[in-house]
Amino acid sequence: MSQPSAPFRYHSLQVTFHWLTALLIFVTYVIGKVMSPISNQDASKIAPLTVHMLIGILILLILVIRFIALMKFPRPARAANENMFLYRLAKSVHHTLYLFIFIMSVSGLALAVRAKILQAIFGGGALPEDFNYLPHAVHDFLAPLLLMLILLHIGAAFYHQFIVKDNLLARMGYGK
Ligand code: HEM
Ligand code: HEM
Repeated sequence: MSQPSAPFRYHSLQVTFHWLTALLIFVTYVIGKVMSPISNQDASKIAPLTVHMLIGILILLILVIRFIALMKFPRPARAANENMFLYRLAKSVHHTLYLFIFIMSVSGLALAVRAKILQAIFGGGALPEDFNYLPHAVHDFLAPLLLMLILLHIGAAFYHQFIVKDNLLARMGYGK
């Protein structure tokens, strides 16, 4: 139920981290797709792999901060005239987005440890011949599902903005 004192929009910290996450996921995703066909024996893989991993870790850190912020700041009121089914669906999509981002980051980290990628990059060793490990399978499997969920989320935001015309985007923007 919406509370009478609930704010109209998310806290500016949450807004900043929401858009920063969106940007970082986009960059990480594109780098992931571009670098994965490159052979592990090709030295040109090291740079994109390093950037991909560093941004991936940053995304995980921001996710933790967002979680704390979710508990600390009051939640905005329910979107005007939104029915219960759509409200619950939106909530489940938001939770699943958090979960998928978490699993993507943790499986990436697990792969980095399992395949000794950090030693290879920073200790001057070589990457393993391939990344045929379980965390890689999880990472690869989840990537398109995360993408689909993000597209659904963006579609829902556009549906609100341009069809329902309730200016939902302003809830994820700055202002009073
Ligand atoms: C990687 C991309 C994205 C992710 C992971 C993401 C994730 C989330 C999550 C988890 C929430 C719930 C609020 C929170 O916990 O902070 C949210 C809210 C929201 N997002 Fe995104 N988002 C992404 C991109 C976008 C884009 C591109 C748009 C607009 C086109 C958008 C529009 C919104 C809006 C309007 C809300 C507020 C919904 C409401 O008030 O119920 N998001 N997003
Ligand atoms: C939310 C964060 C992340 C996203 C969205 C993401 C996305 C991706 C994508 C789309 C791919 C290519 C998958 C394919 O082959 O189709 C990939 C591969 C990979 N990612 Fe991530 N990733 C994230 C975090 C991480 C982290 C934190 C690490 C390690 C610290 C990591 C390490 C890797 C590695 C080692 C590969 C394999 C590259 C290859 O197959 O040659 N990722 N990632």
